[in-house]
Amino acid sequence: MAQRESWATRTGFILAAVGSAVGLGNIWRFPYQVGEQGGAAFLIIYLLLIIGVGFPVILVEFVVGRHTERNPVGALKRIGSGAWTKIGWVFVTAGFVILSYYSVVAGWTLRYVLIGLQGDYSADAAPAQFGQAASGLDAVFLHALFMAAVIVIVAFGIERGIELSVKFMVPAIIIISVGLAAYAFTLEGAGEAYAYYLTPEISTIAENWTTILPAAAAQAFFTLSLGMGVMITYASYLGEDRNMASDAGIIATLDTFIAFTAGLIAFPILFAAGIEPGASGPALIFVSLAAAFAELPLGGILGAVFFATVAIAALSSAISIMEVVVAYLIDEHGISRVPATAALGVAMFLVGVPAALDLIFVSLYDGFANSILLMLGGLLLSVFVGWVVPDLAIDEIGKGIRNVGSLGRAWLWFVRVPVVLALIVLVALNALDYWSFLTGGFAEWLSTNL
Ligand code: TRP
Repeated sequence: MAQRESWATRTGFILAAVGSAVGLGNIWRFPYQVGEQGGAAFLIIYLLLIIGVGFPVILVEFVVGRHTERNPVGALKRIGSGAWTKIGWVFVTAGFVILSYYSVVAGWTLRYVLIGLQGDYSADAAPAQFGQAASGLDAVFLHALFMAAVIVIVAFGIERGIELSVKFMVPAIIIISVGLAAYAFTLEGAGEAYAYYLTPEISTIAENWTTILPAAAAQAFFTLSLGMGVMITYASYLGEDRNMASDAGIIATLDTFIAFTAGLIAFPILFAAGIEPGASGPALIFVSLAAAFAELPLGGILGAVFFATVAIAALSSAISIMEVVVAYLIDEHGISRVPATAALGVAMFLVGVPAALDLIFVSLYDGFANSILLMLGGLLLSVFVGWVVPDLAIDEIGKGIRNVGSLGRAWLWFVRVPVVLALIVLVALNALDYWSFLTGGFAEWLSTNL
């Protein structure tokens, strides 16, 4: 067997994992989730879940990936047996659904690049502008364009594409975001916005925990690219000398920093414009940024640069999703890379078209894939690693860590009991929420539109 590839440098691995993690989840999804769930109450729960569930589950995926040196489906076949090998199905289905609408939202960012280049951001017309950009034939076309880019990169091999894009993208996003957050700080109403974003009220949490908790958990999984085997795949190229715990820490910290900064940009701008953050939904970041760029000197160019950077961040995330599903077709069905990628891309494009025509489908897909499939994938994998292959897990986690002592056992027990129990509750709460969406908002939409 040929020598398996591995990451040339530690930074290469971290950047690729960060490239997958940092994307629309941080810049688009995070702020609107905060808005929908009432601000700081959501933020604090989210941070706790990143540390208490996200971080240990990154390590669960890392352990499986590095130990097996396989794609997620092959990995489970190698160390699991019977029904455990079927977890791969959850991963593949989640990836398929996520990418189909992820590409639609990425199309919106492309649209906002064009609007910027034409100098057409407008403070007053921002909500109406979003309505036009998000749904319709243009949105379908840009969705197709983005999906085509994903197909091309994944078809021709991801290494160079990933490395190149993340080397520029991650620093660019950080610099531009911090700059925009500094601008937002100067706005009138910033104080009020920070209070909304940063001062959690226990009473809000107590009253709304059944919706805040599952939403925050789903966001944590989505933003860290967890629950569908991306981190398994990336860690499968990792050497045994690497300390996976510290790498996971860096990835989670950078990802959280970028999401947090997106909130520091969005909320002061919304408050200054007098827009209620809770009411915007998926439009939030587009409306607020278009309004802000309209007021800035050279705002059109600046906005175009910002949205282009977001589009690149989305691309480096999208290829990580596509790669998992493609690897499955290649390994399990012996289809070669180019036709597998092309066929999947076309199928995902078609499934995504409704989302480019009506926003309700963004919620329909997003709720199903994130809140249910990703969390379920994470739960099943945690049970598997914690209870079925514990010795292997302890052995693997200790490699590359000097004086690991009893830390490996501590992590294992943490995954076995609190993480698994929390995930069971969270999956159940998310399923209930999704059910009320299906029977509420979605049923209503169906009855008015059919
Ligand atoms: N984490 C990415 C983002 O925040 C999206 C993403 C990439 C993802 N790969 C994933 C989400 C795997 C879930 C699973 O935009």
